[in-house]
Amino acid sequence: MTGRLIVTLALALATSSLAPRPASAEGDAAAGKAIFQRTCENCHAVAIGVNKVGPSLWNVVDRKPAAVPDFAYSDAMKANKAAWTPTALDAYLADPRGDVHGVKMFFKGLPNPADRANVIAYLQTLK
Ligand code: HEC
Repeated sequence: MTGRLIVTLALALATSSLAPRPASAEGDAAAGKAIFQRTCENCHAVAIGVNKVGPSLWNVVDRKPAAVPDFAYSDAMKANKAAWTPTALDAYLADPRGDVHGVKMFFKGLPNPADRANVIAYLQTLK
């Protein structure tokens, strides 16, 4: 009986230490991955060089906007010079169409700040 309990506890500990740790103090990368798979993955792959409706988001955090080769960005995105810091991503994902005027990303955005923090924490793991 006790042995079984200890095994269960040990398993629980082992699994939790294997889970991806949050990349930032605010965001939870594991929760962000689930949100990403639900809301971004139709349009964005996370593998290098795989462009769908949107560009690959591999290593997007801190890179310059419109940097993926072979992706046809909007002129507005090409003119956007501010690197994708977590702060810039937060503003963009809150209101993609309002942030970079005329962007092609037909996505209403993530209104919940916690969802954005989690997705950004997940994006930070893609390196
Ligand atoms: C309906 C399709 C669609 C969805 C859904 C979508 N995107 Fe996009 N995304 C795009 C397109 C298209 C672009 C290119 C925009 C442009 O050129 O103006 C883009 C651009 C981006 C960029 C800038 C990339 C770069 O290389 O500069 C980021 C970051 C981004 N999306 C993140 C996300 C995240 C995170 C989500 C989910 C929360 C998401 N997108 C959901 C289509 C989408």
